[in-house]
Amino acid sequence: MTSDFVLPPLIAHRGASGIAPENTLMAFATAQQLGAKWVEFDVMLTQDNMAIVHHDDTFARILGLNQTVHQMSYADIKTCDAGSWLDKKFSFVRIPTLAQTLSCCADLGLSLNIEIKTTAAFSKATAEETLAVLSKFNFYHPENVLISSQEPLALSTVYQQAPTYRLGLVADNWADVDAALSLDFKLYSLNLHYPMITPEKMAQVQAQQYHVLAFTVNDRALAERLFSLGVCSVFSDDVRLLK
Ligand code: G3P
Ligand code: MG
Repeated sequence: MTSDFVLPPLIAHRGASGIAPENTLMAFATAQQLGAKWVEFDVMLTQDNMAIVHHDDTFARILGLNQTVHQMSYADIKTCDAGSWLDKKFSFVRIPTLAQTLSCCADLGLSLNIEIKTTAAFSKATAEETLAVLSKFNFYHPENVLISSQEPLALSTVYQQAPTYRLGLVADNWADVDAALSLDFKLYSLNLHYPMITPEKMAQVQAQQYHVLAFTVNDRALAERLFSLGVCSVFSDDVRLLK
């Protein structure tokens, strides 16, 4: 059976987050306009179990609110200005739901790396809600979606409920990678903080057939060095980095 699943050298990290408010519909549309084929974004659950696209544990940086994501309902945040933190001209931008994001990205023809951003306590619920929303979009299927997480329980939940999706472990240290490699399902990729990546470690994980992705790479020379070591894709805030 042939596979259409091909990761590009550059995945737009949180959309075109270098020039548009990260993890927003504007960031995804901008990424597509600049030539991105794949975008990465982070999914979290609000207090009322709405899957939203947001990165931080709290809303302090993006909305100027000190509450955690799990302390606020979607109604509390849906009208909040999620763009002025970057530039006043983006004050109309809002935090999108996962459903709004999938609708927008499907219209744009974008393939996705959905990162389930969670703690162990919310891993199962966040993974289940992500899959429930994803199942409503015919455009998305295992050939154009990579699902990743730092939490092994989120990945195992996806594996149990939708085993055809490729899974990536997000990690910033090798101890977490070693722990995840003993899970009872096969990961497709290791999505690694780039300073972890050495020739020796690359040789080890490539011998085990893992695809290695690196974040967050905003320097072209660094990207080229990582590619020379065997990294297949970099997550970048700059969609034009490799042009
Ligand atoms: O998934 C790659 C990268 O997004 C992981 O780091 O903190 O930007 O979500 P972070
Ligand atoms: Mg991420």
